[in-house]
Amino acid sequence: MIVHLNGELLPRERAAVSAFDRGFLFGDGVYEGLRSFDGWVIAMDLHAARMRAGLAEARIDWDASQLDRLTSELLAANDLRNAFIYWQVTRGTPGPDDPVRTRLPARPMRPTVFGYCVPTPGLAQCIEPASVRAATVDDRRWLRGTLKSISLLGNVLAAAEASERGADDAIMVRDGFVAESCTCNVVVVDAHGRMATPSLDSAPILAGVTRALLPEIAPGVESRPVRAAELREAREIVLLGTLTTVASVVQLDGRPVGAGAPGPFATSLLSNYMGWIATQAEQNRSRLSPRHDQVRQSRAGSR
Ligand SMILES: Cc1ncc(COP(=O)(O)O)c(C=O)c1O
Repeated sequence: MIVHLNGELLPRERAAVSAFDRGFLFGDGVYEGLRSFDGWVIAMDLHAARMRAGLAEARIDWDASQLDRLTSELLAANDLRNAFIYWQVTRGTPGPDDPVRTRLPARPMRPTVFGYCVPTPGLAQCIEPASVRAATVDDRRWLRGTLKSISLLGNVLAAAEASERGADDAIMVRDGFVAESCTCNVVVVDAHGRMATPSLDSAPILAGVTRALLPEIAPGVESRPVRAAELREAREIVLLGTLTTVASVVQLDGRPVGAGAPGPFATSLLSNYMGWIATQAEQNRSRLSPRHDQVRQSRAGSR
């Protein structure tokens, strides 16, 4: 596996970061998770915009408009067209004479930039929504849920609590309202077929990129506060995320949801999403391929 570290592409074994990096010691950084199908990265502009906003909020000086080029280079270096791509930007490592534990760094430092990618199933393999058993868990994370912080201890603990109750994922609930799962946004379909996803002002949740695509792939999903009680009466509960794509919650707190199997909404949402991606990938092929091929050829030439 070839990874990116601070502007260099290198084998993963050679990628090393200082133990004094603030990402390691403080969880002081932001990240993005992207996915490519057939060489096309889903909604790159939305990921870059979210990362730009997160970096600005975190006061980390890194230009997120590089994400597009760096991702193409990383995919080409690994010769991957269907992949999950991870980027992390931390505040950086203090100099040898700088204090380590100051919450506010003594002086600006160079951010540490790290990226890797792993192969994922292609369009033809994404036919059935994955089935997930979920447990409702109190959302006790911080209130900056829109910031894609690398400090994921709150999500890790929610996942651990769900696992201890025999579930695969947690659906977090705050003050009686649905928030999100550990890695996904949530859509609830009621007994009348009405669809809703928690609005961004109803709970401190991530503004998911997949969620943002709902108007294109599932028109009619309302964005509004969703009460936890609606989960228990739902005909379907669906999870949306970049890596997950579309998954179906078939069991909640030990009880079946609907028929206890992925329902028609989840199935058609996944199929619409894959159809939409196929169209976008096709439309963008002529624009993206030359760069992908160029980088691949130049790397092959330099071997
Ligand atoms: C807590 C949380 N909610 C929602 C999402 C879904 O966001 P996206 O669709 O941008 O992947 C993620 C993805 O990592 C997440 O970690």
